[in-house]
Amino acid sequence: MSTFDEILPDLTKIFNPFQEDVTKMKPVLVNRDLNGRVRLIVDEKWEENEHQHIVLDEMASKINEELGSHAYPAKQAVLFEPDIDDFLKRESCFQLEGISDVFVIDRLAVEGNWSRISDLTASVPRTVFFSIKGGVGRSTALAATAWALAEQGKKVLVLDLDLESPGLSSALLPEDRRPFYGITDWLVEDLVNNGDVVFENMVATSALSHNGEILVVPAHGANPGEYIAKLGRVWMPKIDSDGKRHSWSDRLRRLLDALEARWQPDVTLIDSRAGIDEVASACITELSASTILLFAIDGDQTWSGYRVLFQHWNRTGVVRDIRERLQIVGAMIPEVGTEEYVDGLLERAWDIFSEELYDEVPAGKISGEDSVWSYDQFDQSAPHYPWEVKWHRSFAVLKSLHGRLKDIDPEMVKVLFGPLIAGVELSIEIDGGSQ
Ligand SMILES: Nc1ncnc2c1ncn2[C@@H]1O[C@H](COP(=O)(O)OP(=O)(O)OP(=O)(O)O)[C@@H](O)[C@H]1O
Ligand SMILES: [Mg+2]
Repeated sequence: MSTFDEILPDLTKIFNPFQEDVTKMKPVLVNRDLNGRVRLIVDEKWEENEHQHIVLDEMASKINEELGSHAYPAKQAVLFEPDIDDFLKRESCFQLEGISDVFVIDRLAVEGNWSRISDLTASVPRTVFFSIKGGVGRSTALAATAWALAEQGKKVLVLDLDLESPGLSSALLPEDRRPFYGITDWLVEDLVNNGDVVFENMVATSALSHNGEILVVPAHGANPGEYIAKLGRVWMPKIDSDGKRHSWSDRLRRLLDALEARWQPDVTLIDSRAGIDEVASACITELSASTILLFAIDGDQTWSGYRVLFQHWNRTGVVRDIRERLQIVGAMIPEVGTEEYVDGLLERAWDIFSEELYDEVPAGKISGEDSVWSYDQFDQSAPHYPWEVKWHRSFAVLKSLHGRLKDIDPEMVKVLFGPLIAGVELSIEIDGGSQ
């Protein structure tokens, strides 16, 4: 009897001898439902075709035999669709590994499937700060980066999308500067077409910026109000008057586009939630961010988490659409044993990038040639080569980050966050040039 992880490899084995028939009927869809049970969907014209009907029965019995509880009884295992191509257009799916013309439709109980990679169509360069584990200094690093970019005269829009444990806004805004509303308020008001009422009052300027500007959009306003009741609704999809469905991440995307159009920033920095989470999925894959920073402290949990993500992108066939946006950031690099620690971090990052993301470069070929995407382990411009953020005791004992940043020492910021700031700057330049 198979368990969940065996479903896809077993299906590849089952379909292998049927490749010719599958190609004839193409596409053959595998629907893996919310409970993890599998059925086939094919065009209804095959229902009346005697030969194909026999083949479909054979496939269904084989699936039932191999997958057991993860299959439907053979008699209910095939669904016929009136217009399969039209049906396919409405679904997101990926090819079953090793079998042409078989596509898997994977139904999840959550919206975020980590595989809908949006094109880079945003008019402002967007950078997402993400980490597999929480508490690695992500929000602090974002605040320092926003400050440094503003010091150079840039207008920086900052979004706190760590809705479930917001923290960024308190780093950049003292109590008395918080705006009246936040992202959560807009997402809830938008459900009843009332977003405009809060839109102008959800952004505040940080007093930390002198030359440029830091515009902060917090998760909630100065008074969180009924935050739990609102948070429980932000994930709602919205059906518009034409009956079109807009997922919560579509709505978030619309908000971000509107904020950028209204405030005209040079760059947008987004604090995502940590871990393999619904908000993080939207931030990383659906907001057209051109730079996705993957904060990493060296440890098994970090690397196994990133490996899960990278393997998912491989399995669902989207890895090429996202891999060039990724960049590892070495978080909280210790003061003692620094060199050894950084070497270890680089080695582990190289291991998973080379095993899961980089193309295998044929001998004698230079990377970059013939759209082969790969880097040398020690190439400092490589996405696996960590941009370093140093641990420092003055940040470790902080009660109020805003207090710390208020008396900010530019030299200190440079020492602790220099490579990260330089990296983000460069990515904005590259991105700004291409937009
Ligand atoms: N470079 C640093 N050196 C030492 N301590 C730091 C550094 N950066 C942040 N800290 C401290 O580590 C703690 C967590 O920082 P921060 O809130 O920025 O992390 P985070 O990754 O955003 O966490 P979360 O996942 O909870 O949002 C805070 O107490 C902060 O003051
Ligand atoms: Mg944080």
